Amino acid sequence: MTNVTRSDLQQLDHEDPLASFREEFLLPEGIIYLNGNSLGAMPREAVQRSRRVVEVEWAKGLIGSMNTAGWFELPLSLGRKIAALVGAAPNEVVITDSTGINLYKVLAAALQIQPSRRVIVMEGSNFPTDNYMVQGLLAQLGDGYTIRFAEADEIMAAIDADVAAVCMTHVHYKTSNILDMETITERAHAVAAVAIWDLCHSIGVMPIDLNACKVDFAVACTYKYLNGGPGSPAMIFAAEKHHGKYRQPLTGWFGHAAPFDFEQDYRPADGIRQMLSGTQPIVSMSLAEIGIDIALRADMQAVRAKSMRMTDLFIELVESRCSAFDVSVASPRDASQRGSQVSFYFADAYPLVRAMHDRGVSCDYRAPGMLRFGFAPLYNSYADVWNAVDILYHILQAGSWQDAQYQQRNLVT
Ligand SMILES: Cc1ncc(COP(=O)(O)O)c(C=O)c1O
Repeated sequence: MTNVTRSDLQQLDHEDPLASFREEFLLPEGIIYLNGNSLGAMPREAVQRSRRVVEVEWAKGLIGSMNTAGWFELPLSLGRKIAALVGAAPNEVVITDSTGINLYKVLAAALQIQPSRRVIVMEGSNFPTDNYMVQGLLAQLGDGYTIRFAEADEIMAAIDADVAAVCMTHVHYKTSNILDMETITERAHAVAAVAIWDLCHSIGVMPIDLNACKVDFAVACTYKYLNGGPGSPAMIFAAEKHHGKYRQPLTGWFGHAAPFDFEQDYRPADGIRQMLSGTQPIVSMSLAEIGIDIALRADMQAVRAKSMRMTDLFIELVESRCSAFDVSVASPRDASQRGSQVSFYFADAYPLVRAMHDRGVSCDYRAPGMLRFGFAPLYNSYADVWNAVDILYHILQAGSWQDAQYQQRNLVT
C-alpha cells in the first residue's frame, strides 16, 4: 500500500520547474490527456501560425513564398533545429515525409554501405510499419535479403557477421522498454553492420545523443512528444561520414543537385538534402516548428526526470489502488529502462479504455489486452497522474467498463 497522497502530487506540481510550459498548450477543459505518445497536444501558437501560413504566406505570397517565406528551405532549416534535440550536427538532419517512408530511404542507403551482406536485424514486436516498410523494400530488392527478428533480450546475439543493418526502435511502442542505443550500435559496428534507430517514442521526451552513440541513420516522427500536429512530417538523420556514399531510392526532384535546372537525369544533391523526394506539406511543416521550438527551450534532463517520476508514481498508485482487479504492469519497473508511457495488461482492456474516455481520461488500447498511458512532461501535471488513477479505480470498482456501449470497437483504437 502506498502512502503517496493527492496533496503530495499537488506539492510536486508546485515545485515543478517545467510547470509553465503547460500554459503553452491548449488542453480541453475536463480532459486528462494521456495520449501525447500518439498525438501531442496543440501548442496555442499553432492557431496564429496556421493563420499566417494560410492567410499571408499562401493567400498573399502565393508561389513567391517558396523564396520569401522560406518554404523551399523549411526541411533543412527545421532539420538544423531538430539536430540539437538528438545530438546531431546541423547538416545531418532534414524534416520530410513520414517515418515509414524515411525508414525505407535510410535502410536502402544502409544496404549500399554494406553491400555484401543480406540480413537485417529487427525486433519482431516493433511498431509494425517499420517491419512492413523493410519487408516492402526487401521484396523490391530480392537477391536473398531477409529479416532476422529478435526480441529485446535476443538482439545482441542476433548481430553477427552476416548482418548488413540493425534496425531498432529506441523506446518500444507497447511496453515502453528502452533499448540501449550505444551498446547495440557498438555491437553492430563490431561486425561492420550499419545501425539505424527509430526515435518516435523518445524524441522530445528524453536526451538523445546520436553522434555520441555513433548511430549511422535515424528516423522519428514529430507528432508525438514534439507536438507537431496530426500527420506532421518526420525527420531523417544521416551521419555525415556516410554523405555521398549512397543513393536513396525515392529520387525525386527535391533531392536533385539542381532541381530548377530540370535536367533529364537524376543527380543527387550533396549531403542530407538528397534525402528529400518531392514537394513538402508546407502548412503542416510550418506548424511543426512550434513544437520543435518549445522542446528546444525545455531542459531535456528536467523533462526526463519528470517523465520518470510521473511514470513511477503512476505505476505505484495503480498497483496500490487497483491490484484487486487483475491489472498488471507491462512496462519495465525500473524507470531508467522505461520511456514516457506505461502499459498495463487487463483482460478486457478495450472496453476499459472506452470507459476511461467517457470519464475524461484519454488513453489508448493496444492489442492484445493492453492499456497505454503516455505522459508528456511539458503539459501533463502530477495531478493528472493522481486523477487518472482515481478514475481508473472507480471504473474498476463499479465494473462500469462492462456496459454494452463499450464493447463496440472504433476504427482507431
Ligand atoms: C515506433 C514507430 N515508428 C513509426 C510510427 C509511425 O510511422 P508513420 O509516421 O510512418 O505513420 C509509429 C507510430 O506510432 C511508431 O510508434
